[in-house]
Amino acid sequence: MKKVRINWPNKKSTNCSPGEEWLKAAYDANVEIPTGCLVGSCGACEIEVNGEVIRACIDKVPDKKELKVEFFSDPYW
Ligand code: FES
Repeated sequence: MKKVRINWPNKKSTNCSPGEEWLKAAYDANVEIPTGCLVGSCGACEIEVNGEVIRACIDKVPDKKELKVEFFSDPYW
């Protein structure tokens, strides 16, 4: 089966299946994505995937070979 390699901000890499929920993928990698509403409206869970901002609570892991995840929110605000 096809796997997507995800490189996380904590320097871990995991493999997961395309279509998996981001929050579950992050959990498996020990990465904590902050959440709020869980329905895609507050933006608390935004992460950057290959430079593109997505909302982790409603988006799924896309069918790509390799993805790089970064935290979108500026930690200094
Ligand atoms: S938790 Fe609110 S948009 Fe994802």
